[in-house]
Amino acid sequence: MALGFASFRKRQFVVLPLQSDESAALAALHGEDFVRPWTDGEFAELMKQDTVFGFTAREEGKGAGAPLGFVLSRMAADEGEILTLAVARRYRRLGIGRLLMDAVLRHLYHERAQSLFLEVDEANAAALALYKRLGFKIVGQRPGYYENAGGRRGNAHVMRRDLYAGGPAHR
Ligand SMILES: CC(C)(COP(=O)(O)OP(=O)(O)OC[C@H]1O[C@@H](n2cnc3c(N)ncnc32)[C@H](O)[C@@H]1OP(=O)(O)O)[C@@H](O)C(=O)NCCC(=O)NCCS
Repeated sequence: MALGFASFRKRQFVVLPLQSDESAALAALHGEDFVRPWTDGEFAELMKQDTVFGFTAREEGKGAGAPLGFVLSRMAADEGEILTLAVARRYRRLGIGRLLMDAVLRHLYHERAQSLFLEVDEANAAALALYKRLGFKIVGQRPGYYENAGGRRGNAHVMRRDLYAGGPAHR
């Protein structure tokens, strides 16, 4: 069987700051996985807030298409928080989640944040693996935090990644 050159080419993705007109695309991606998907309007409201920022990922050279993944984050005082992160099912395990999280970490370093927090369902093996790989540590628990399929409650781990563990001298 002959395979074209394109089959072997490693896919490249670009990460761009979130635009205010992308709320519908974010809601569509979010709806692929979450039991209580956030609506277009909820994303639009969040994105209006000065403290909220985020990034989308697209395949290089296909800038006009729908985003393949996004991350939404917030910075208050000197702490960052991941509000949500999602990658389209067909594009997982290609490094997009990591690229998006790296973009948030870079932004927070630039803003001199001290740490980045998030909550993750203890049953979400993919997200837990990604966050552990990025240096997040479990620092707390929120019992029954998530509503899962069938109305079951799922526990959340609270995770933290320190950004300036060495203090101001290392900035
Ligand atoms: C979690 C999620 C964002 C990961 O995105 P992704 O683009 O597939 O992740 P990446 O390809 O960047 O993976 C980076 C690393 O994370 C870990 N990882 C990611 N998915 C994994 C999986 N399914 N199983 C085990 N490890 C996984 C691996 O260490 C991986 O590196 P590797 O592929 O070199 O082994 C994606 O699975 C998703 O959108 N899930 C549904 C929504 C969600 O759970 N969001 C998080 C809410 S807290």
